[in-house]
Amino acid sequence: MGAYIIFKDVTNLRSLEEMVQRSDRLAMIGQIAAGTAHEIRNPLTSIKGFLQVLKRTFETQGMSKEQNYTDVMLAEINRINELVNEFLLLGKPKHIAYEQTDVSEVLSEILPIINNEAVLHNVHLQYKASTHLPEVIADREMLKQVFLNICKNGIEAMVEGGTLTISESVETSDHFVCIDVHDTGPGIPSFVIDKIFDPFFTTKDEGTGLGLSVCQRIIHDMGGMIRVSSKGYGTTFTISIPYP
Ligand SMILES: Nc1ncnc2c1ncn2[C@@H]1O[C@H](COP(=O)(O)OP(=O)(O)OP(=O)(O)O)[C@@H](O)[C@H]1O
Ligand SMILES: [Mg+2]
Repeated sequence: MGAYIIFKDVTNLRSLEEMVQRSDRLAMIGQIAAGTAHEIRNPLTSIKGFLQVLKRTFETQGMSKEQNYTDVMLAEINRINELVNEFLLLGKPKHIAYEQTDVSEVLSEILPIINNEAVLHNVHLQYKASTHLPEVIADREMLKQVFLNICKNGIEAMVEGGTLTISESVETSDHFVCIDVHDTGPGIPSFVIDKIFDPFFTTKDEGTGLGLSVCQRIIHDMGGMIRVSSKGYGTTFTISIPYP
């Protein structure tokens, strides 16, 4: 008897789809770039910290020439920091090297860096080692990044000084090595705590908000998890890494 044929112009829809895909890709590139930039800033922070300590020593010993050198170096580091902040560094993903790793050993290697950061912020560092931690399968450098990021957050949270406690333990029932990082800072409000692992979420003027999202990705890739508990006063981050 008859038929209806309906034509619909979908050109707009198509180009919209393309735009969304493109912006997804751009967002991803941006995230990778920012993540790389963030991890360049971490070692820079420790270099800067030790230089500041050196500068103080030179100051107290009246070594003005050496003090000038440290000033120049600090200014240059600030320049790199600014560049890193501005530039989009399109780095390839780093090669990951999983190996049998002694978590205590990794921690004791970076303890001086954490302690230095703590001293500069008037924070007391406490380390409770556990004997005979089982070895985990992990990338050492990445583990260092995780511990540094989380300790740095704790230290930064204690603006009026306090104590940062790092303690090791083993959950034998689930086969996890656990590292607790506890600070005596103000804690994390409940309306913030759900967002802290989101990329780019930050409450700091100078923060990128990538620290915890990078940490979480690294620990997830190792089959572990990061939990946080904060009840009004103080915060504890627990990093659990499985052992075979
Ligand atoms: N120990 C802590 N105490 C209180 N708040 C915390 C603590 N750790 C993290 N946070 C909150 O989580 C947010 C996200 O942390 P994250 O490390 O991802 O980024 P950031 O520290 O702000 O920036 P960046 O790591 O780039 O310097 C912080 O801005 C802060 O509000
Ligand atoms: Mg951080």
